[in-house]
Amino acid sequence: MSSPRHIAVIMDGNGRWAAAKGLPRIAGHRAGAEALDRAMHLCRDAGVEYLTVYAFSTENWKRSEEEVGGLMRLLSIYISSKRKELKKNGVRFRVIGRRSDLSEKLQREIADLEAFTADGAFTLAVALSYGGRDEIVRAARKALSEGMAPGDLDEAAFAQRLDTAGIPDPDLVIRTSGELRLSNFLLWQAAYAEFFFTGTLWPDFGKDDFEAALAAFAKRDRRMGGRKQ
Ligand code: FPP
Repeated sequence: MSSPRHIAVIMDGNGRWAAAKGLPRIAGHRAGAEALDRAMHLCRDAGVEYLTVYAFSTENWKRSEEEVGGLMRLLSIYISSKRKELKKNGVRFRVIGRRSDLSEKLQREIADLEAFTADGAFTLAVALSYGGRDEIVRAARKALSEGMAPGDLDEAAFAQRLDTAGIPDPDLVIRTSGELRLSNFLLWQAAYAEFFFTGTLWPDFGKDDFEAALAAFAKRDRRMGGRKQ
């Protein structure tokens, strides 16, 4: 069994991590951003080519103004402070989700970083204002607005209209903090993914957890709906 080409992560548990330390929730998200950098290095060292992370869901807008504002600022700081490092490390930055929900300033910063890192060999896709159902509805609307004939819309044509167009489906989805749900993440793309759940809170996610996830993946028998001969 080969290693996964694409890993997707539901980075859960930042708030609990902060609460356990008596810190504000945003401190947990800051530590979560550091865990993301760690995970990215681990992926690259392991030969993984794509990492997609759930950073902000369509539901997360319902959180307090303070937390939403703090997360948006953190994203903006991440984008400006990591610019050179991402480029140097060959990381192609990409955002999936309803980006029109984001401030115009953040949208510009994202578009600029995407263009600047477009030739990177490793892809970091960050899901922002993302919901799997929302993405599917937007893809369907896109096909309709293009005047596509119903008979021309097959799975490949549909996938090309998703935010993840050009990115292969995830082989492995990891969720931290002990929750056992998909929470509207990559609904279409995770059709044949393997799942790895760990009780570790995202800010504590490191080499041991990553290796445990890869070892579990290596033991899975991926038939993708087919039968072994
Ligand atoms: C879930 O934990 C985490 C989030 C909603 C935000 C994830 C964001 C980051 C890790 C920020 C860094 C991202 C980038 C791209 C800079 P939670 O807050 O729901 O935790 P809880 O369930 O313990 O409350």
